[in-house]
Amino acid sequence: MSRELDIPAVRSASYEADPQEVHRVLLLYSGGLDTSVMLKWIQDAYHAEVVCLTVNLGQPGEDYAVIREKAMRLGALECHVVDAREHFARDYLVPAIRANALYGSGYPLFTALGRPLIAELAVEHARASGCDTVAHGCTGKGNDQVRIEATIATLAPELKVIAPVRSWQMGREEELAYAREHGIPIKASQGTESTAPYSIDDNLWGRSSEGRWIEDLAHAPEDDVFQLVTRPEDAPEQAALLELGFERGVPVTLDAERLGLVELIERVAELGARHGVGIVDHVEDRIVGLKVRDVYEAPAAAIILPAHRELERLVCTIHQNQFKPELDRQWAYLVYAGLWWEPLRGDLDAYMESVNERVTGTIGVKLYKGHARVVTRSSPNAVYDASLASFSQSGGLFSQTAAPGFIELFSLQSRMAWRLRNDAHRE
Ligand code: ARG
Repeated sequence: MSRELDIPAVRSASYEADPQEVHRVLLLYSGGLDTSVMLKWIQDAYHAEVVCLTVNLGQPGEDYAVIREKAMRLGALECHVVDAREHFARDYLVPAIRANALYGSGYPLFTALGRPLIAELAVEHARASGCDTVAHGCTGKGNDQVRIEATIATLAPELKVIAPVRSWQMGREEELAYAREHGIPIKASQGTESTAPYSIDDNLWGRSSEGRWIEDLAHAPEDDVFQLVTRPEDAPEQAALLELGFERGVPVTLDAERLGLVELIERVAELGARHGVGIVDHVEDRIVGLKVRDVYEAPAAAIILPAHRELERLVCTIHQNQFKPELDRQWAYLVYAGLWWEPLRGDLDAYMESVNERVTGTIGVKLYKGHARVVTRSSPNAVYDASLASFSQSGGLFSQTAAPGFIELFSLQSRMAWRLRNDAHRE
């Protein structure tokens, strides 16, 4: 039977839902304004049932009981809350650490790493609760829609997608009005029409803010954006030292205490945040073509990534060290671009794992007023011999008398080319 729906059936992709076929929707629910409005709106506009899924990736300060209760009060059929922190750390952050993953040389990819996992869980829960469609709250201008929809279309070709924010043509004021009209609670922090909040996304690995003055590239960061990291100028006068122990590229100890990865990351984040570490003011090339500015606070990544990179360089040869950053960059680009399930990522991971076999040892990091600096290194696999490196020692594997012969051959082609060019000049 065809239902009376006022949703236009314009679809440009095969995985987009035909409104007539939307009966039970799995909604990726955060408890915020957009997805709360969506929860009601989907029930009204599609005459469909809604099952909510809320994923805990370690975003601080969430009360999942409250989120769940809100979903149920707004008419959800069920609301599943999944604690995916371990899964996230083990299967997403470990590969990112091994790949020294930074996009655009500054963004540690926390959102980009979280989306494929959230979408993978959406598929699992949609199937288990008999949903035909997945709904998310991403806009039509961001990377997140790409990451989520690419994942769903890859893993579950039978499921369809709706993205109400892309099509419902409600601005912030209309959303607030809709919320008031439908008894959807509005938090004070969600502001009024004139003081919209920043658009925030966060998890264990970092926090991003977008919107408001951040869109004005000439506007320096205002203090109220920093909700995680202490402003460097307010950080303690006293520096802190921490020591990270790695096994096969994975951080396993903090100051010699063995910790699970989630706890280790949380503790490192706390130390970094206290010392003002991990602020990144980043203009970045989105995959959908736009350049957008983000303010990131990623204290754990700002300590763990440089420590890992340092240890990796110590145990690798000059040739590995020349090569790996190119693959690291490719890895970060694929993940940023939402192609988590692309086979090339698996190929690259195999290389990352192979290199990281030897990335075992400890790195000491000094934290001081916004900076994290590596100050000590030690590894049984270091391709380093203090006696060879020393100015005062001679002999052993290194022969100083062989150096001039090396220089003659090593510089041969460059010298020949130089001469040819200069001779041509003189003629
Ligand atoms: N620019 C980052 C990215 O594309 C962060 C996006 C934050 N997402 C959000 N919905 N606020 O991964």
